[in-house]
Amino acid sequence: MPPVSRVETSSASVPVASPRVLRAGPSHVRSALLAALLVCAAGCAPQDAPHFGWDTSVPGKTIARRMCSDCHGLDGNPTSPQFPRLAGQQKVYLVKQLTEFQTEHRWDPTGTAYMWGVARELTPKQVDEIAAYFSAQTPARGAAGDATLESEGKALYMNGIPKKEVPPCAGCHGNEGLGAGDVPRLADQWSHYLLEQLGVFSTEERPAAVAMHAIVVHLTPRDKLALATYLQSMGKK
Ligand code: HEC
Ligand code: HEC
Repeated sequence: MPPVSRVETSSASVPVASPRVLRAGPSHVRSALLAALLVCAAGCAPQDAPHFGWDTSVPGKTIARRMCSDCHGLDGNPTSPQFPRLAGQQKVYLVKQLTEFQTEHRWDPTGTAYMWGVARELTPKQVDEIAAYFSAQTPARGAAGDATLESEGKALYMNGIPKKEVPPCAGCHGNEGLGAGDVPRLADQWSHYLLEQLGVFSTEERPAAVAMHAIVVHLTPRDKLALATYLQSMGKK
């Protein structure tokens, strides 16, 4: 049996002969493998193969597959907490952030390194299409964290800190953390990413986030950890 590599796709794992195998094997093995590949290209529609069997009826999905899925997942639910979830995010917020990256106004080191180049490639029409696509996807549920931190986070989220004049987060982001318009959804987002952004807001690296700048200066590291822990697990409640 010749070695066969596997190509992961979002819905299935399709065995594909590596080019090395195709070159190296005896001719009858080569033809059999080529035949299998061709059948698969037409019939099993491997989702990663350009031009073969792609559903191009949703323009945003085509862009996501070509330009975003390696990091954010094809449906906006990345497997690594290094990359923010985009599924179910507010469309207006997504358009705004992509524009901020394009115009180099969101310039924290991670955003600069990962998002400036790719955002620059998008036309205004594509920004609209990709934002519509990701906002329409179903977000995966975030994992539960430490129960004490979660309940501290919930109290902060719902009540703010009146003696420091910190308004309730729920007042803008909503009781369910779903956001609205240019206020982002926070429910189910990775705690890793949320914590990082709460840190970024204490710098000038996201200047559009005026409300958040005034809020984070009053939060202790423990407050931020509690909020991020609560928000990641929020959709489970
Ligand atoms: C190479 C990996 C990579 C690719 C490819 C990529 N992103 Fe990102 N994206 C990131 C990272 C990392 C961040 C977090 C940036 C930060 O911390 O500021 C991010 C952040 C974002 C944000 C901000 C999310 C928020 O909640 O504010 C949006 C919107 C976004 N990406 C959309 C896209 C779209 C649309 C594409 C494809 C056109 C794409 N990204 C391609 C890595 C990537
Ligand atoms: C007055 C309204 C308002 C309040 C109150 C508020 N936020 Fe926000 N928040 C926003 C807006 C608007 C943004 C988007 C900023 C931008 O465009 O960059 C945001 C962004 C964020 C983000 C970044 C999300 C992402 O995907 O990058 C986090 C995290 C966040 N807020 C957490 C909180 C927490 C925690 C609280 C309570 C302690 C809070 N916010 C209170 C309006 C608010």
